[in-house]
Amino acid sequence: MSYRTINVAASRSYDIIIGAGVLSEIGNLIAPLLGKCRLAMLTDSNVDELYGDRIVEYLSSSGYAVDKFVIPAGEASKCADNLLEFLNFMADCKITRSDAVVAFGGGVVGDMAGLAASLYLRGVKYVQVPTTLLAAVDSSVGGKTAIDIPAGKNLVGAFYQPSLVCCDTALMDTLAPEVYRDGCAEVIKYGVILDGQLYDKVKKIPFDRESVVARCVEIKRDVVQQDEFDNGVRGLLNFGHTFGHAIEKMSNFGVSHGSAVAKGMLIAARMAPLCGLCDAADELKELLLAYGFDLSCDYSADDLFDAILSDKKRRGDNITVVLPRSIGDCALVTLTVDKLYEKLKQILG
Ligand code: GLY
Repeated sequence: MSYRTINVAASRSYDIIIGAGVLSEIGNLIAPLLGKCRLAMLTDSNVDELYGDRIVEYLSSSGYAVDKFVIPAGEASKCADNLLEFLNFMADCKITRSDAVVAFGGGVVGDMAGLAASLYLRGVKYVQVPTTLLAAVDSSVGGKTAIDIPAGKNLVGAFYQPSLVCCDTALMDTLAPEVYRDGCAEVIKYGVILDGQLYDKVKKIPFDRESVVARCVEIKRDVVQQDEFDNGVRGLLNFGHTFGHAIEKMSNFGVSHGSAVAKGMLIAARMAPLCGLCDAADELKELLLAYGFDLSCDYSADDLFDAILSDKKRRGDNITVVLPRSIGDCALVTLTVDKLYEKLKQILG
């Protein structure tokens, strides 16, 4: 079998291996990176039911001792209580500095396992094994780790790069359609921000998963290599996210991340012409509707503005939003929070 390999040269250099069936190679892939060690594996209840036995078998047959910790599936699990429980579990399992963490799941699992790896003993190695499209194209790559706190999403976290990303695209066959669609929002995001050709490619639904995942990962790799610690160009990856995170928060996470990002991308596209940039809103809306996204927004400008004020991207009285110049080319536009409010009012009333 041949798999695609994409290397990320960040503060830790690591490979992302992409392909259907690559999970069966996980033992061979991690052996040169981790040696023989104990693995604390974080996963969620859905992934565990479908694939938990399989990954443990692959790892055990390669000589790894695996201690598995399962959290309930869903964003509500990405919380301080579960993080602490997992850290205590690692201590109970006598995980040492030469051992490692495996994040086997979607964005919730990946973000929390990565944060636990960064904290435990001031840092142990970890491996991302994304099981959702969203985690494959976004959260498993680039080393952003976090949990949510009541004040907002991802407000507590660290930059901490994995040692390997093992992305088996066949695991996505069993995703519920709405979970798969969540990842499509991130794929469309990459097209709008940096790659008009990718955007055109994903107009054909369904798109070829493996090549599209690989292209998104390449785009993210290029961005992360330029700005690992998110002080500039990495901000482009937040297209739709400032408004999306506010919608997620307002809905008490009842609106999923991908659905919220889709709504947020449309708000951003509507804001662009109000800031002298292009009006791609109708075109983007058409594509998002073709994917089946509900683009209605149940929240007023006041509601969203309130939630945005606690966004981690805010710096003092300024906030930087990502707005399209054209499909495939976005700009980082810094507005005062008052200006942002004014524009949100114009869009949402
Ligand atoms: N998910 C956005 C980033 O990694 O920067």
